Amino acid sequence: MENKELPSNADVRTPPAPATGKLGILTPGLGAVATTFMAGVESIRRGYSKPIGSLTQMATIRLGKRTDNRSPLIKDFVPLAGLDDIVFGAWDPIPDDAYTAAQKAGVLEEKDLERVADFMKAIKPMPAVFDNHYVTRINGSNVKKGKTKRDLAEQLRQDMRDFKKKNNCDRLVVVWCASTEIFIKAGPQHASIEAFEKAMDSNDEAIAPSMLYAYAAIMEGIPFCMGAPNLAVDIPAMLQLANDKGVPISGKDFKTGQTWLKTVIAPGLKARMLGLAGWYSTNILGNRDGEVLDDPQSFKTKEESKLSVLHNILQPDKYPDLYKDFTHVVRINYYPPRGDNKEGWDNIDIVGWMNYPMQIKINFLCRDSILAAPIVLDLALFSDFAHRAGMKGIQEWLSFYYKSPMAAPGLQPEHDLFIQQTKLKNTLRHLMGEEQITHLGLEYYA
Ligand SMILES: NC(=O)c1ccc[n+]([C@@H]2O[C@H](COP(=O)([O-])OP(=O)(O)OC[C@H]3O[C@@H](n4cnc5c(N)ncnc54)[C@H](O)[C@@H]3O)[C@@H](O)[C@H]2O)c1
Repeated sequence: MENKELPSNADVRTPPAPATGKLGILTPGLGAVATTFMAGVESIRRGYSKPIGSLTQMATIRLGKRTDNRSPLIKDFVPLAGLDDIVFGAWDPIPDDAYTAAQKAGVLEEKDLERVADFMKAIKPMPAVFDNHYVTRINGSNVKKGKTKRDLAEQLRQDMRDFKKKNNCDRLVVVWCASTEIFIKAGPQHASIEAFEKAMDSNDEAIAPSMLYAYAAIMEGIPFCMGAPNLAVDIPAMLQLANDKGVPISGKDFKTGQTWLKTVIAPGLKARMLGLAGWYSTNILGNRDGEVLDDPQSFKTKEESKLSVLHNILQPDKYPDLYKDFTHVVRINYYPPRGDNKEGWDNIDIVGWMNYPMQIKINFLCRDSILAAPIVLDLALFSDFAHRAGMKGIQEWLSFYYKSPMAAPGLQPEHDLFIQQTKLKNTLRHLMGEEQITHLGLEYYA
């Protein structure tokens, strides 16, 4: 049976090259998410903890018929880089090493951080490409200087080459873990590589720092993942460049707390053909991300990303009786005492048989960076694998990890977590030359 969910570039299957040598994972941003990710990987390597929340490390994948009893771990089935082969690097305008940055972020308890203190102190951020215009609430001294934005991008490319050489890496991956920038609409400056390069040369305001990191990575043949809602790789110029250079790209915005739950519950409502009158989501958080998002311009970027989810899953056009005109409100409030331990409330007004209203209330006391860290790991390992498997351009099978998944031009992104999971696993099966699983159970008809 044909599987329409596969990314088109997976159709040309080349046997994935093995993961030999070291993989460098570079993160623009050395804040709460990046340091929690790095400390966690090291803690796992030293045997202090298990990689909870990571599909690449803990999930299994069923192969063949149910009766075959073949369900290896994904990491035993797919040639992924091993945790021991990973080295870390970062850029940040704030010069703190990873240990100090993690202390300030306040995600990890001292006892957990102390056990990896030596390792974390050795990770020092490279000077960032940073501009206050795009992230207003942060000031830092560890910043590159350059006459033009193209100069700055060239400096980032040099950093990537230097890091690779110095750390004796075989391959690199870049995962954006830096702040959410102000809202930028895709314009003519982003329409083609030529227009983009011209805009870099003329220091056009439409070229944000995140775009320069993306450009630099792709030019160096390095996969790029966008963990914030910033446009960065989600513009025609970058897509064209990624396809030309044979580089996998993906984004945007890690799907961690409230939105993750939304993409679990909304498909459930739709599966039961229950209606929706409204969904009100509010959050309080007190970390630096919360402070940045307190700026209305940065919040707008986040809001766009959070709002798109429900319409896409519920398809009001197809089901007007159930989903036409529902109200969807998302609020984020900066509340310092809460630190990284975000609290989210959802009030969901649903509609049942004979129009009877019902309510669902969710109070999610989550830890943002604890949920995000394994996503950074999985995206890095899967993107590196995709590159070795000959994949390029948008990696729709990684939509599972994003709030605002990128899709090929003209296609609607897929938000339903379970469809995303099926697509992810079927892509792995396909790339490894295994049958896709359709759950059709044809054997009953024989
Ligand atoms: N934690 C989550 O659950 C989650 C979910 C989705 C998206 N995100 C996004 O991930 C990003 C990181 O989150 P966080 O909690 O670690 O934030 P954070 O504020 O703790 O860390 C971000 C870091 O990026 C640095 N930075 C800003 N601009 C930069 C630039 N141009 N180059 C290099 N570094 C730069 C900042 O100085 C800061 O140290 C944010 O954009 C956030 O919106 C987080």
